[in-house]
Amino acid sequence: MLRVENLYKAFAGRPAVDHISFEVPAGETLCLIGSSGSGKTTTLRMLNRLIEPDSGQITLQGLNITELDAVKLRRGIGYVIQQIGLLPHLDIGRNIGLLPELEGWPKSKIQARIKELLELMQLDPALARRYPHELSGGQQQRVGVARALALNPPFILLDEPFGALDPLTRTQLQDVFLELQQRFGLTAILVTHDLAEAFKCGHHIALMHQGQILQHGTPLDFLKQPAGSFVAEFVMSQSGEQLLELPVGKLAGPAPAKWAGQVPEGLSGLSPDTPLRQALKILLHTEHSALPVIDSDGQLLAALLRADVGRLL
Ligand SMILES: Nc1ncnc2c1ncn2[C@@H]1O[C@H](COP(=O)(O)OP(=O)(O)O)[C@@H](O)[C@H]1O
Ligand SMILES: [Mg+2]
Repeated sequence: MLRVENLYKAFAGRPAVDHISFEVPAGETLCLIGSSGSGKTTTLRMLNRLIEPDSGQITLQGLNITELDAVKLRRGIGYVIQQIGLLPHLDIGRNIGLLPELEGWPKSKIQARIKELLELMQLDPALARRYPHELSGGQQQRVGVARALALNPPFILLDEPFGALDPLTRTQLQDVFLELQQRFGLTAILVTHDLAEAFKCGHHIALMHQGQILQHGTPLDFLKQPAGSFVAEFVMSQSGEQLLELPVGKLAGPAPAKWAGQVPEGLSGLSPDTPLRQALKILLHTEHSALPVIDSDGQLLAALLRADVGRLL
């Protein structure tokens, strides 16, 4: 659905985004991860035409975005910016309803949409009359996402949307995002510098460094075949507590051939959403080299390999 080819942008002769290419299929989330200054925000800003690339191509649903009207394009793409960016002098309702208002929606429809979005983001609709400074950081982030979804865009860009939050609030917001993404089949690019968040939220992950994409793949690809020592070290440096909350389905791969498509006797299957922490307990207390991951009917789906879990710890 979204295709980026050979995208390049330099500031004062220094490349910020250095010939990157990737695709995001409809209904999937790509997580862009990388340290500060690696070019993540610049990439998003080009997708939204807030800045123009020096070279390269971006096509959205087959259309070259430079041929689209920039304002129309932006209304079709939800954008959650890194600094949230709520307008301080407007109440929450108006902040959320701003784009529908600019689109000329009737007042009653805007009010209904504001209420619906607040509920979607699990916020009290009464917050609509408060001002941004009267909300907690987590509530403001939720409003930022609600605002980006106001016009029901099929495609959204989120720039470190859960950045400055405590771990619990962050986990809750990731869960809200995942639910919305699945429910509405959103296509998304989510920028983060947190590997656990990328693994949890992304179907695919692209690791950026100095403007280039060093690796693009699934969480399992990153664990099993890091593309070079920088990626391997990045993955190592990020492992920790949060990764233990990942669902095992994210890290499971093909089951051992000797299982012949069945759950081996003496092993009990895990559902794909079992937290890794629980699987780790079993691995620590047994010598199984792999644990079966099963669907709700008990059929074998995949296997979580001891060796792959070991790479995270
Ligand atoms: N408007 C700008 N003018 C000059 N340099 C910029 C501008 N925006 C970004 N840069 C530079 O481009 C590089 C990538 O920045 P950015 O895309 O913001 O990285 P990230 O979001 O990964 O932290 C950095 O070196 C940054 O200083
Ligand atoms: Mg940034």
